[in-house]
Amino acid sequence: MSDKIAYSRHGDIAVLTVQNPPVNALSQAVRQGLWDGMDRAEADDGVKAVLIVGEGRAFFAGADITEFGKPPMEPYLPVLINRIEASPLLVVASMHGVSLGGGLEVALGCHYRIAVPSARVGLPEVHLGLIPGAGGTQRMPRLTGVEAALDVMTTGRQIKADEAAKLGLIDEVRDGDPKQNGIDYTQSLLDAGAPRRPVSEMETPAAIDWDGAFETILSRGRGQISPAWCVRAVQAGVEKPFAEGLAAERKIFMDLMETDQRQGMIHAFFSERAVGNLPELKGVEPRALQHIGVIGGGTMGAGIATSALLSGFQVTLLEMTPEAGEAARKRIAGNLSGALKRGKISQDKHDAILNNILSVVTNYEALSDVDLVIEAVFEEMSVKKTVFAELDRVCKKGAILASNTSYLDVNEIAASTSRPEDVIGLHFFSPAHVMKLLEIVVADKTAPDVVATGFELGKRMSKISVRAGVCDGFIGNRILSTYRTAADHMILDGASPYEIDKALEAFGFAMGPFAVADLAGLDIGWAVRKRKRAEGIDPAARDSSYADKLCEDGHFGQKTGKGYYDYSAGAKARVPNPDVMPLIEAERAQQGISPREFTAEEIVRRYMAAMVNESAKVVGEGIARRPLDVDMTLLFGYGFPRYRGGPLKWADIVGLPELLADMQEYRKEDPHFWQIAPLLEQLVAEGKTFDDLNKAAAA
Ligand code: CAA
Repeated sequence: MSDKIAYSRHGDIAVLTVQNPPVNALSQAVRQGLWDGMDRAEADDGVKAVLIVGEGRAFFAGADITEFGKPPMEPYLPVLINRIEASPLLVVASMHGVSLGGGLEVALGCHYRIAVPSARVGLPEVHLGLIPGAGGTQRMPRLTGVEAALDVMTTGRQIKADEAAKLGLIDEVRDGDPKQNGIDYTQSLLDAGAPRRPVSEMETPAAIDWDGAFETILSRGRGQISPAWCVRAVQAGVEKPFAEGLAAERKIFMDLMETDQRQGMIHAFFSERAVGNLPELKGVEPRALQHIGVIGGGTMGAGIATSALLSGFQVTLLEMTPEAGEAARKRIAGNLSGALKRGKISQDKHDAILNNILSVVTNYEALSDVDLVIEAVFEEMSVKKTVFAELDRVCKKGAILASNTSYLDVNEIAASTSRPEDVIGLHFFSPAHVMKLLEIVVADKTAPDVVATGFELGKRMSKISVRAGVCDGFIGNRILSTYRTAADHMILDGASPYEIDKALEAFGFAMGPFAVADLAGLDIGWAVRKRKRAEGIDPAARDSSYADKLCEDGHFGQKTGKGYYDYSAGAKARVPNPDVMPLIEAERAQQGISPREFTAEEIVRRYMAAMVNESAKVVGEGIARRPLDVDMTLLFGYGFPRYRGGPLKWADIVGLPELLADMQEYRKEDPHFWQIAPLLEQLVAEGKTFDDLNKAAAA
């Protein structure tokens, strides 16, 4: 037998204990071990029942994702589960930790299921671009009905044991040791003469409007296809005999396995976990973190303070006046009441945070004891330097001084203190208590343990933390500024903001760039443009001023009710602002441009080429350590569609030679903007991909 499964006898019960740390993924060795374990139990004299239980953190976390994309190896999971279900013995699953995907499907192949109250179950395959592929779409609806099953598998959400019991997925919830619980429960079933109870033999549930459900779920997925395909698999299970339904499910699963979406989602799964795994941090101990200071209580500062409070930190927030302090406290209270409503914190915790854990102060001396302080004041170097001089004066030795700047030079900020080794950039995204991304900006003199502490903070705040080097805009905003410029050029040449937003939303972005600009506030881009013009713009660069005119008229987007869109009927009911196209047309006329047509395909192609080119420069210059750092930045901070994996994964899939050829064409029109990244040219010359760089970095 495989060493992944331990076989033991407890009276009439054979126990198969799974030992495949860290999460008991159903690798080939585990599948083989379960198969052999069933054979052995059936041949073992006196055995009347088999109990399957996991050791360590989980029952099973599902199929072994590292095996995806490789040739399938026997025994195949659906065949194994059928074999377990068909056993003449009584088969019981005792679940704890997670039972996900193939893990829950193994449990559904057993005749009875018991779980501890903390157990969570789910069919998260849609998050990997797949559908449940080992009978989940066939067995679950027989236990829960079609609607509940579709809800669980199309959202991929994890459900707790008590909800799973209510749905009919778990027969009994009992506290205690999973193995002992399982043995006691199985014995009670044997004592009661409980029959084998294969789910595949249960009645098929009632049909629903399959085409309607398919279309609704497809449109919800913003281009992601796998959730909608769950509907077709469940439909086959309801309309056909079990074996045929299972075959239909398998066919859809295998077809989805071949898709770009599956590749993109699995890249996202592993990159999300690899992003904080940096060789430079190996063995570096983070500094102690308990008390956090925040300077500035505007939307950003209040969001950062909320995130820190919700993550268990003591927070002292500094504002300049008692009135501003009161406004900051109100913002935080508003954020916390949202968390209370969503069930993230209890009323007691909410009250304790506001009354005891948060202090709002107006003097710097109150920050003398903080372990780390994050400055979130106005984005202006002279203001930042004044703040850092004060922090340098009052903060204790070893305290980390962080700036939430989104563009400014962290080296220059660090140099304005007597302790540049303690200075770092911690760039949150608004609203900071909601958005997952945290850019950890490492300046030339930042000490390694300060970097490690930044990652520790991100982990405790449940953020996706990405290491970035210092440059204008770091990883995310630098790339954003380039692809936004590509969009602006297309507008000058004939596309409308609405065509561009529509094309990119169809590509899968949560929002197009002009809708995003309206949400963030057009004054932000205006300030950046003014700063850049003051610094001096290269005369060869294309520029335009129509967006400035919108701002000069007081239209800053959603917050003023008008920007590229008109929001009079609400934020969701956006309609094009009729003032915008005349401004654009006037600009084109003034620049002597005859507008031309852009197809949605060309819009996406140019926009993505600009994004990939700048991303390649960011990696080539070492601002991002690896391509996957760029991918995760765009995914978690900029609404990039997860099912495409990130811009550089998308580039690999589309083909780097094709993208380079496009850029060389665009370069003929505008050599200033389309300066091609040397790294991209090098990869094409060597026949390599961005993912090869990720792999080399992991080796
Ligand atoms: N296969 C292979 N490795 C897996 C895995 C899986 N199914 N699930 C987790 N791991 C690995 C992770 O990559 C990670 O590895 P490193 O330590 O090397 O980075 C390690 O296990 C621990 O995982 P996490 O860091 O994510 O730990 P966590 O405690 O935060 O979360 C978890 C644990 C909830 C199981 C989470 O890892 C998770 O959601 N895993 C994916 C579960 C899943 O999608 N299962 C369905 C698989 S598809 C399927 O089963 C298809 C089918 O029907 C046949």
